[in-house]
Amino acid sequence: MPTVIVADNLTKTYILNKKAPGVAGALKALFRPDKVRIEAVKQVSFTIAEGELVGFIGPNGAGKTTTLKMLTGILFATGGRADVLGFDPSERRREMQRQIALVMGNKMQLWWDLPAWESFLVLKEIYEVSDAEFKIRIDELVSILDLSEKLHTQVRRLSLGERMKCELIAALLHGPRVLFLDEPTLGLDVVSQKRIREFLKRHNREHRTTILLTSHYMQDVAELCERVIVIDHGSLIFDGSLTSLTERFGPVRRLHLIFRSPVHADMSAFGRVLSSSDTEVVLEVPREQTSAAAAKILEQFPVKDIAIEDIAIEDVVRELFTREPDTLPAG
Ligand SMILES: Nc1ncnc2c1ncn2[C@@H]1O[C@H](COP(=O)(O)OP(=O)(O)OP(=O)(O)O)[C@@H](O)[C@H]1O
Ligand SMILES: [Mg+2]
Repeated sequence: MPTVIVADNLTKTYILNKKAPGVAGALKALFRPDKVRIEAVKQVSFTIAEGELVGFIGPNGAGKTTTLKMLTGILFATGGRADVLGFDPSERRREMQRQIALVMGNKMQLWWDLPAWESFLVLKEIYEVSDAEFKIRIDELVSILDLSEKLHTQVRRLSLGERMKCELIAALLHGPRVLFLDEPTLGLDVVSQKRIREFLKRHNREHRTTILLTSHYMQDVAELCERVIVIDHGSLIFDGSLTSLTERFGPVRRLHLIFRSPVHADMSAFGRVLSSSDTEVVLEVPREQTSAAAAKILEQFPVKDIAIEDIAIEDVVRELFTREPDTLPAG
């Protein structure tokens, strides 16, 4: 599969003027500014192949949006190199712009006072989309997203979910090969989130569009992305499958036991007891001890049913992001 996105030691340091409070501070900042450096993205490297749908996650301020902005040519990198479809995004070449799109959940790009339809017509001209292509794409997108009733309503009167659907149509009208999505489901209700996810999955599958997506909703990532890239404090800390993320950072597993007859034993010898009754116990056991613990329990107790579960991806990620950076397992 050809590589379509490359980040090679991509780095962004913002430099801000620091201002002390008050007029004196403002004057000093004007003539002798104190500079503050914010290392938003530090030597981040990854490659993404055509057709992949990759989740890009990290806590607030980790550097996700900054990275997407460098990859789309909105921001210049201060170090390293980016390559998207063979182009250097910072050159902002028209050939590249015509093949990519960026959607930001917190920043609407459609004209607020116009119906979406009119914005679509303007975009059609900007991107020089032929009438035939425009028709095919609009028909497909509008019907999948179930939006035909709303195209002639002023965007400002649409619900948040409807607006996001319009944003997606606007972004896809020119048939981009690479789609960057920055929190596309932000603030949406669960039903709309699900619709958007289903749409993205389908679009990725049917058009082989490469998608790099950030989201704080782990459900988005869990349902859409086989591969995740995790960034924290500007540095890449993980790149791999969702399953291996759970394996690496989810240090425990859950053992859910149901007994055939009442058991009055202290189960804490096997792990942390999360809930317990005479006939049912849920234990949290360190990952590497799971099979040994399960074997012992099966030997000693009248077990009717046993389920071994990984902890939810939400919990893994929460755990990951609340750790001190130097306590990450190596790998
Ligand atoms: N224009 C800017 N000038 C100065 N600092 C900035 C600017 N934009 C972002 N930053 C800082 O860079 C760091 C990374 O920000 P970025 O927006 O990339 O994070 P993020 O991962 O997208 O976070 P979130 O999940 O909250 O959207 C933060 O510390 C942020 O405060
Ligand atoms: Mg962001």
